[in-house]
Amino acid sequence: MCGIVGYCGSQSAVTPLIQALRHLEYRGYDSAGIALGVGGRLFVEKRAGKLANLESALDASPPLAHSGIGHTRWATHGGPSDHNAHPHVDNDGKLAVIHNGIIENYSELRVRLQSRGHTFSSETDTESVAHLLSDLRKEHQGDLAAAMRDAVKALRGSFTLVAIHADAPDVVVGVRRNSPLVVGLGDGENFLASDVAAFIDYTKRAIELGQDEVVRITPTTVEITDLGGRQIEPKEYEISWSPSAAQKGGFTHFMLKEIFEQPKAVADTLIGRLSDNKQIVLDDLQMSADQIRAIKKITVIACGTAYHAGMIAKYAIEKWAKIPVEVEIASEYRYRDPIIDVGTLILAISQSGETMDTLMALRHAKASGARVVAICNTNSSTIPREADAVLYTRAGPEIAVASTKALLTQMIAVYLIALHIAQVNGALNDRQVEELYNELLELPGKIQAILETVEPLRALTRSFAQNNIVLFLGRNIGYPVALEGALKLKELAYIHAEGFAGGELKHGPIALIDKGTPVIVILPVAHEDGLDEKMKSNIQEVKARGARVIVIAEEGAHIEGAEHIIRIPVAPALLQPVLATVPLQVFAYEMAVARGNDVDQPRNLAKSVTVE
Ligand code: G6P
Repeated sequence: MCGIVGYCGSQSAVTPLIQALRHLEYRGYDSAGIALGVGGRLFVEKRAGKLANLESALDASPPLAHSGIGHTRWATHGGPSDHNAHPHVDNDGKLAVIHNGIIENYSELRVRLQSRGHTFSSETDTESVAHLLSDLRKEHQGDLAAAMRDAVKALRGSFTLVAIHADAPDVVVGVRRNSPLVVGLGDGENFLASDVAAFIDYTKRAIELGQDEVVRITPTTVEITDLGGRQIEPKEYEISWSPSAAQKGGFTHFMLKEIFEQPKAVADTLIGRLSDNKQIVLDDLQMSADQIRAIKKITVIACGTAYHAGMIAKYAIEKWAKIPVEVEIASEYRYRDPIIDVGTLILAISQSGETMDTLMALRHAKASGARVVAICNTNSSTIPREADAVLYTRAGPEIAVASTKALLTQMIAVYLIALHIAQVNGALNDRQVEELYNELLELPGKIQAILETVEPLRALTRSFAQNNIVLFLGRNIGYPVALEGALKLKELAYIHAEGFAGGELKHGPIALIDKGTPVIVILPVAHEDGLDEKMKSNIQEVKARGARVIVIAEEGAHIEGAEHIIRIPVAPALLQPVLATVPLQVFAYEMAVARGNDVDQPRNLAKSVTVE
């Protein structure tokens, strides 16, 4: 939610700043702007809309500068317009600041600053910081880092701030509280950014900044202090993602590329997880066998697509490990006095590791004494750093706003955790665990098979492009798949899409069915519980009311009444979501393309939601 970059070095700053903003645009695209320090004055250019608008405005002849800051915005306070775009500048026109997050006490600050003579030119919460920093910098005789330390003490909320002043253009200063900021260490150049994707084209050396730490970079130095001004020893790490992972690689959209990367992402997440003596290896959990056996309850906290992975965790852990699991929308969790004790294990699932709702729920759980394990895709992000332990998914960078490969790897992570707990607590024996693990190993090939036969589905999807409603039905482990199919369609096609549990159909949703309403049914794997038969009855019920029925079913399943059947390879019932999700991703993707929507950057959304 908002992308931030700062640069100091020998290059013409516009080049790395714009390159960084391209990689950060997934975090918000309501406006984009830069500020450069050019010989005692600031050059500021900012434009509402996508980065391309800023780039055209800069085409004329951007001034040569060797430092600057850049921002891509997801609007919170103040609509998406040129004047609300960042950077925001003080009344001297010399200090510029960019911000990710929310300053909760901005209106009282604004009144106070106006009474001191500052005039405001935007409706944003951020502009208060520009004026506040300007005053504090004067009090600190031009020391921008000292001014930033004092400014933070006066702010409430969650924020990353990065600032530059025209009188010392070689210095860029940043701070973070609850929102992300990383330092990129180059050769004669340094970066500050919301995430490493921003500077991965230039360096793979990075430093993660801690909570309430202030960083001051020049082309050759990086100084980190706490709010008391005490020096902090930086913790450097090497970025494992390659720059090419953040390119489209011949695909028309990142989302399509990421859908096709799923076989590898799933395979990578499984590497090295079964030992020679047939034990699931999850040292990442950092829990002894006794600690695992002491788990009485598991609570999953997550948002959006990651929440659907959490629902799958419930089915898998309860079935295999026989431990009760509750799944909570993270934003609801801490506000309802959840019952947490030492026997509670929290699983926090997040692709980005920065989702504010999930982070706040995690902190609440930790403060209440629970042990927190994160499932995360982004190394060294805030959620894994604050969790007691982390199981990293190995999906690689996910750029498209709508999550695809991260979800499939989250599912793999929860299956591994379920199997591990089941093996340790004896709910499954070694042979059962090995059989299920071997089934997991089959999944990459099966996903690949789906992707190789996806063209007819793409053509079929286009015939639905004018529909303004699509319903999804699932039962049991197919229910979260139905929810995910609907979420993807909402995000990408901007149409009314809902997922329902098949059994609930008759309790209300069936009233939505009209002649021609598309209904996508995830047919459960045939099983002695007869769920597939119940779902076949649902197919007849919606068809009798005029629905156009598309069924996702495993090879060989007998189905009547469907207009189209999309076949997926046979897999054990609990693993079916890994396969059944893939055609739904393709469906949503193709609908978005057919409707002329922006696939990788859907309207109003941001990939990393760093506000509550
Ligand atoms: C946003 C994104 C979703 C994502 C959710 C949770 O809403 O648009 O695609 O599922 O955040 O993100 P996380 O990074 O915590 O998995």
